[in-house]
Amino acid sequence: MEILGIDIGGSGVKAALVDTDKGELLSDKIRFQTPENGSPKKIFDGIATNFIEELKWNGKVGCGFPGIVKKNKVYSAANISKKWIGVNIKKKFLNKFNLECRAINDADAAGLSEINLNNKIPKKGTVMIITVGTGLGTSIFVDGKLVPNIEFGHLKMYGDCAEKYASNLARKKLNLTWKEWAARFSEYIHYIELLVSPNVIVFGGGISKYFHEFESDLISNCKIIPAKNRNNSGIIGAAFSVT
Ligand code: BGC
Repeated sequence: MEILGIDIGGSGVKAALVDTDKGELLSDKIRFQTPENGSPKKIFDGIATNFIEELKWNGKVGCGFPGIVKKNKVYSAANISKKWIGVNIKKKFLNKFNLECRAINDADAAGLSEINLNNKIPKKGTVMIITVGTGLGTSIFVDGKLVPNIEFGHLKMYGDCAEKYASNLARKKLNLTWKEWAARFSEYIHYIELLVSPNVIVFGGGISKYFHEFESDLISNCKIIPAKNRNNSGIIGAAFSVT
């Protein structure tokens, strides 16, 4: 099936057409910068001109969102305008574009893509996907089944959110070297491992393309592997969520 996959993020909104049978992008990835404060109106306007009109799309849409999403409705928005809370993304797509859409959490979307496409992930056991970008997105799959809306980016570390300590935004703000950042991220993994004991951790999100830079500095009790589709996992998994 051909689906428009959209990944709304704190710094960029990305989309591509996805072949959900093959799990591949069918078009180039298109991106626009998340407008300042990222209000629903501004982002939907951006989606209209940059994606829907540009691709002349009139099929189904899968949308990943950086917050808790239950039955297509947003319940939290840490790195994007609070105006999103309460928005039913499916209804918005229907009313604004007359398009059928399914919305899920962005890290859950990335996880769906990896679980289905990454043959390095075991079929049994606990798999944790961590997407590292503006925030820290987490998803957990047990024996291949998603436990939705796990928000481990908001565990407390040093009196604030873990994502304030170990996200890519934290790395950039503090101008940390890869080594310094990897030490922080390893502390975060240690914390996660006390709570969940995953068999494998899949590293995704914006900086997964630099995985080779810090791989050797990551310390964990389990195997950490990069996301097969790196930062495209969010787009592909959002499309998968529709099928
Ligand atoms: C949000 C999560 C999201 C993550 C990555 C966090 O701040 O609470 O829902 O998955 O950022 O975007």
